[in-house]
Amino acid sequence: MTLHLDNLPRTIYVEREEGKPRVVMIDQRALPGELTWIRTADWRVVVDAVKTLAVRGAPAIGVAGAAAVMLAAFELAGSRVGPGRRAEDFCSFGGTSFLAAADGWGFRGALEAVASEVAEARPTAVNLSWAVRRALQTAFGALDGGQAAQEVSEALYGLVEGLIVEDEAANRRIGAAGAALLRDRARALGRPLRILTHCNAGSLATAFYGTALGVVYAAAAEGLVERVWADETRPVGQGARLTVWELARAGVPATLLCDNMAASLMAAGRIDAVVVGADRIAANGDVANKIGTLGVAVLAHHFAVPFFVAAPVSTVDVATADGAAIPIEERDGSEVCPHPPEGVALYNPAFDVTPASLIAAIVTEEGAFAPSALASALVM
Ligand code: MRU
Repeated sequence: MTLHLDNLPRTIYVEREEGKPRVVMIDQRALPGELTWIRTADWRVVVDAVKTLAVRGAPAIGVAGAAAVMLAAFELAGSRVGPGRRAEDFCSFGGTSFLAAADGWGFRGALEAVASEVAEARPTAVNLSWAVRRALQTAFGALDGGQAAQEVSEALYGLVEGLIVEDEAANRRIGAAGAALLRDRARALGRPLRILTHCNAGSLATAFYGTALGVVYAAAAEGLVERVWADETRPVGQGARLTVWELARAGVPATLLCDNMAASLMAAGRIDAVVVGADRIAANGDVANKIGTLGVAVLAHHFAVPFFVAAPVSTVDVATADGAAIPIEERDGSEVCPHPPEGVALYNPAFDVTPASLIAAIVTEEGAFAPSALASALVM
């Protein structure tokens, strides 16, 4: 197998158009049919992209969140109250109006209001609020240092560029740490591995390279991967629409299966390891990930297949004690069934929680850990 990571497009980045900052994101709603990008200078468009899954995956929405705050800062910094225009024409967030750039406090308050709106766009992946917090820290640090709104906005632009670089670097380190685990497994079995994944935790879910698929790419580069089996991931179909598209582009042999086929595959001894991503990892090592992950973990436990989670440290939420405390996003029932028979209710949680006890190791850029040891190892 020859890997072609150069065939993978960058998921999200920032650029300037005549000096004006823009965010560029793949519109993942159009995949696999069409590879198109959303280009915008409007933070509201970025928030909408997060809400509607145009950009999705915990690390990618973290970058998008910080980028939305950055665009809002530029907008606020550039706003001026002139004849015939009221302050609220320029910025009215969360029902509050501010004289944006007119004074530092208005700018600070407006940015804070935008930040909370951005952070609330999706509740489960902690990377979103983590990245928004980093944006506010950068902005407030610059304001406290006496910088003007325009300079603060430039500092935020630099932060977003930095987050993108950081994310790819973290993913490559996750890949290396995960490949070491898969190397041991391949050695024990004496052959390359057949790996099952659920949802998309690939390059498309990050700035570039991916978490769970980052592990696959690093292992494949060493000849450790025979094939990836990708669950379709009902109801949104991240596996069917994104994972297999990405794997095919990268040159990794991939097979798509319906979610309810994984059990028979494992029962037949055709899976050697499971690797998935994470949206939030609680202090005790419980992991929230795409709905259906829990079922895969239970199956893997039953069939003695090692179940690995790959995620950056920014996904670890030490302030959340255990999985029961992780907020689970409920999405519109129409994703499950657009036209249910009259009187039928629809149930659509976007994530579930896999208990730490079912996870062989959590792989981060700081190395691989037993789930119960992760939080204390990272806090040290
Ligand atoms: O709802 P999504 O598509 O944003 O879900 C997030 C995910 O892609 C997964 O849960 C993934 O496995 C973790 S993010 C790398």
